[in-house]
Amino acid sequence: MAGKKAIITGGSRGIGKAIALELASEGVDVAICSRSQETLEISAKEIRDKTGQNVFCLVTDTTDDSSVANFIKYSAEKLGSIDILVNNAAAPGGLVMGDIEDANPDELLLDINTKIVGYLRVAKQVVPYMTNRNWGRIINIGGLAARSGGTISGMRNIALSHFTKTLSNQLGPKGITVNIVHPGATRTEQTESSQASKAKESGTTISEIERQTTSNIDIRRIVDSTEIAYLVAFLASGKAGAITGESIAAGGGVGSAVFT
Ligand SMILES: NC(=O)c1ccc[n+]([C@@H]2O[C@H](COP(=O)([O-])OP(=O)(O)OC[C@H]3O[C@@H](n4cnc5c(N)ncnc54)[C@H](OP(=O)(O)O)[C@@H]3O)[C@@H](O)[C@H]2O)c1
Repeated sequence: MAGKKAIITGGSRGIGKAIALELASEGVDVAICSRSQETLEISAKEIRDKTGQNVFCLVTDTTDDSSVANFIKYSAEKLGSIDILVNNAAAPGGLVMGDIEDANPDELLLDINTKIVGYLRVAKQVVPYMTNRNWGRIINIGGLAARSGGTISGMRNIALSHFTKTLSNQLGPKGITVNIVHPGATRTEQTESSQASKAKESGTTISEIERQTTSNIDIRRIVDSTEIAYLVAFLASGKAGAITGESIAAGGGVGSAVFT
């Protein structure tokens, strides 16, 4: 993969940062974006220092057309080309996680604007750079809420599965593959504090929260964000040219549903 150029949205922390670090470790120059400058610059420096690759960053809001256009123009100029896009920027779980009585339509619209329309905004700007070279990889980060009911915001991920297959139909003839990776519960920098607050709310311990979370995961542990990154790096590589339009889970075998 050495010499390839990649864009990762939401690359300042969590799964996006792990993906940016893994791609850069494979010799890929990367451009990352997020809304908060300080975390973004700290992460870009960390990835640059660890890998020696070019790592560019620009504050961007993927809910805004002109902000996205600006980021893609900046990235293309700095990187020289764009081979790989990882659409990842979104709030994990989404904003509408409770019952219908409490569901706020404006929060759902923001979720949809960020994760569905946001991914479309970025892909629309990036595709011309890939079609120019007749080669490209687009990997959308969804979520396993696509495969089971539970939270209203989960609908974002099933919509993205449809978007992925549709883009694969349209872009396959132009040498571009498009896939979606569905993480389940995934360990990031935020996991510890979120488990601590859940434990406090329910008057229990962090290890009990961890036990409850992992009880229906076949591998009985929370998948690490680095493990999502390994899968994304494979899909972004030349070796994955036959895989497109697919929804691929990396949830450690969570749940008991069977998918053909
Ligand atoms: N962690 C999990 O357990 C899990 C499970 C299933 C699916 N996922 C999916 O995986 C992806 C990453 O999740 P994560 O856990 O790594 O989340 P995270 O740690 O909260 O990171 C999200 C990243 O996206 C950025 N971001 C959010 N909204 C943005 C916007 N409008 N414009 C630009 N950047 C934006 C954030 O930075 P700023 O806030 O500074 O903008 C941050 O860099 C999401 O699509 C999520 O739904 C996560």
